[in-house]
Amino acid sequence: MRILSGVQSSGRLHIGNYYGAIRQFVQLQEEGEAYFFIANLHALNTVRDPKLALELTREAALAYLSLGLDPKKAVLFRQSDVKEVLELNWILGTVVPHAHLERAHSYKDKVAKGFSPDFGLFAYPVLMAADILLYSTDVVPVGKDQIQHIEFARDWAVKFNTQYVPGYDPADPDGRERGHAPGLLKLPEARVQESTATVPGVDGQKMSKSYGNTIELFGDEKEIKKRIMSIKTDSTAVDAPKPTQDSPLYDLLKLMLPESEFAEVDATWKTGGKGYGDYKKKLLEAYHTVFGPARKRHAELVADPAEVERILQDGADRARQEASRLMAKVRRAVGIP
Ligand code: ADP
Ligand code: TRP
Repeated sequence: MRILSGVQSSGRLHIGNYYGAIRQFVQLQEEGEAYFFIANLHALNTVRDPKLALELTREAALAYLSLGLDPKKAVLFRQSDVKEVLELNWILGTVVPHAHLERAHSYKDKVAKGFSPDFGLFAYPVLMAADILLYSTDVVPVGKDQIQHIEFARDWAVKFNTQYVPGYDPADPDGRERGHAPGLLKLPEARVQESTATVPGVDGQKMSKSYGNTIELFGDEKEIKKRIMSIKTDSTAVDAPKPTQDSPLYDLLKLMLPESEFAEVDATWKTGGKGYGDYKKKLLEAYHTVFGPARKRHAELVADPAEVERILQDGADRARQEASRLMAKVRRAVGIP
């Protein structure tokens, strides 16, 4: 089973990114042939400062490595290092209906939020489909918001195969029946981790870099403390039972504490006797228990950029081998010498 996913290097990573995406990647690298990349070409849609673009790409690589992705188990690479993806992006684009892109949720959401409606943003799902199809991916672990993109990738793979693969039957995409040919582009499936609900930010909305409500994974220690201490709470008295609904503090404790410790918190939360300040201290401790080891590895890797670069180059070489095999077939199929 080939597994592939990526995270855009468009901001500093926060604990929502860990629980919603990277934690799953770390588990999946044990289950199949895993490819994880840094979507730094996609990030150019929103990061328009070259220094920052480079820094965030490096930061994402450090985050992957320090949170437990292992280059011996998974292929780790930068999207921009495998140029084949841009060629497939174009070729695939020739069979993509404009109307599909017009109904893409992510585009509509971003434009509604004030992002400039540029071609790159509009064509974002095509490059994402190329990312996936280039490596004949079976499974793509993603958040709910990305499901439509995987469906597009499937639709366009079918369109491409129908157009260019003689004997391809969309009802039999793997060409199992006599006289049928398998598609050149394999149809991927989304895998959504239902168990990770949306991680709330310090203000109670979804944690997101665009809302400025994040708790960063590798941020400065003082800043982390400040963020945790600023988590929104209500005015319930210390002695009174506290509401569990719409409490980001309660939800974050549940997410980060081991089950038995959370059970204790849950009990006092519901009977009263402890103030929100105590619970925030508990959360800060939990943060350091969970992310302390990764933060330490992160500091070591920051000091060894050559090693990080070596890992990325090695990943890119492996990814490129796979990509160039597929592209040779695609070129032949469409008539590019
Ligand atoms: P952001 O919302 O900060 O811009 P991205 O959209 O770049 O984050 O998300 C990168 C990955 O992290 C995606 O797989 C997404 O589903 C996951 N993710 C981001 N924020 C959260 C959150 N608050 N809760 C759960 N998962 C999240
Ligand atoms: N669009 C994804 C996100 O915002 C990132 C991404 C780019 C991706 N290409 C991909 C994810 C291919 C999975 C597969 O999170």
